[in-house]
Amino acid sequence: MRNLILLIGILYLGRAVSVQSIDNKRFEILSGRKNEVSTKSVWDQKFSNEKYIFGKKPAETLKNYLKLIGDNNNRTVLDIAMGEGRNAVFMALNGYRVTGIDISSVAIKKANALARENNVSIKGIVADLDKYEFKNHEFDIVLCYYYLDRDLIAKMKKWLKPGGIIIFEGYTIDDPVESKGNKNYLLENNELLKLFSEYRVVHFEEPLNNRRFYSSFMGIKPQN
Ligand SMILES: C[S@@+](CC[C@H](N)C(=O)[O-])C[C@H]1O[C@@H](n2cnc3c(N)ncnc32)[C@H](O)[C@@H]1O
Repeated sequence: MRNLILLIGILYLGRAVSVQSIDNKRFEILSGRKNEVSTKSVWDQKFSNEKYIFGKKPAETLKNYLKLIGDNNNRTVLDIAMGEGRNAVFMALNGYRVTGIDISSVAIKKANALARENNVSIKGIVADLDKYEFKNHEFDIVLCYYYLDRDLIAKMKKWLKPGGIIIFEGYTIDDPVESKGNKNYLLENNELLKLFSEYRVVHFEEPLNNRRFYSSFMGIKPQN
């Protein structure tokens, strides 16, 4: 009997060790679902440094897009996968009412701190975008910088008001750094034009610089 208990103990321990040792991507492939706890802890870990890893300044393209948008009219903005708040705070500074969502509570804390530093406020939501729902037509503008989940696009379109603006930017398969990792998270050339084919294109670019390669899109949702 004691041997049997010992054997069960060893088998259990072995299983626990092997479960722990499979990495996040392998877990996702084997189980067919996302390892949400691990995604959160990976990002919490990345952000758990006083330094703002994506910087405190907004993306260059966003500054240009704002010039094209013109008047803010107290419009509402959703920042998808907001991170440490560089773009959300910039929009708030320009008079927009900003909501940002991110799975990392550490990122949201840093975004709130950045907002305080700039004397503005933003609404930060800690949640998994796989599960969270906003109301249909809740936002005038939806921003998505460097977070590619193709399954989320339909939802983003629902959350945006008719006539609202989508701004989407991400690395492409040409990027020398990112292409070493999982290509699923990279945009094909011209893919944003296809993903938002029913939208009116305000701006689209895939600059051919020789360092980092990204695709950036700004478009308007049809009225009906
Ligand atoms: C590359 S960062 C981009 C941050 C920000 N958009 C920017 O450009 O500074 C990707 C962000 O996605 C968030 N994220 C990853 N998976 C997520 C999920 N399932 N739900 C919500 N946020 C997620 C991470 O916490 C991280 O802040």
